[in-house]
Amino acid sequence: MDRERRLSEKAREEIRRLQGLYPQARSALLPALFVAQGEEGYLSEEALEEVAELFDLPLSEVASVASFYTLFHRRPVGRHVIHFCTNLSCMLNGAEEILAHLCRRLGIQPGETTRDGLFTVKKAECLAACDIAPMMLVDEEVYGNLTPQKVDEILGKYREEGSG
Ligand code: FES
Repeated sequence: MDRERRLSEKAREEIRRLQGLYPQARSALLPALFVAQGEEGYLSEEALEEVAELFDLPLSEVASVASFYTLFHRRPVGRHVIHFCTNLSCMLNGAEEILAHLCRRLGIQPGETTRDGLFTVKKAECLAACDIAPMMLVDEEVYGNLTPQKVDEILGKYREEGSG
């Protein structure tokens, strides 16, 4: 193989290790895609091809899994990815208004990344935290009972970290 690899040897080893944990290697596809995503922050076409090779699966199958789950990114994203839930419980608790506030503060629309590369905002389906609706995930951190003020505080915290 003479094309440039996207997955490091360490990532390939980790994927092989994951495959060994299941009776059927294919069951490790989701965690393997997270490993691949950890390499560049998103899943490029080339990275998907390499995962498909490791699993001996057609690229189309791996690509459709990667596109189905909102936690996988098919394009480069900001340093922090905000998944904002827009499903029923969150909607009924004012998610639309708060998402609009968040986007206004960041100067972007859902699906976009801020110019400084710090944040990407994505709309998400129910993230299983309806009891604290409206809610969002920033990377893996859950924030609930959101208000415009709370959103401002959260953004401030990440901005501070980014400049520190
Ligand atoms: S509807 Fe938003 S977390 Fe369930």
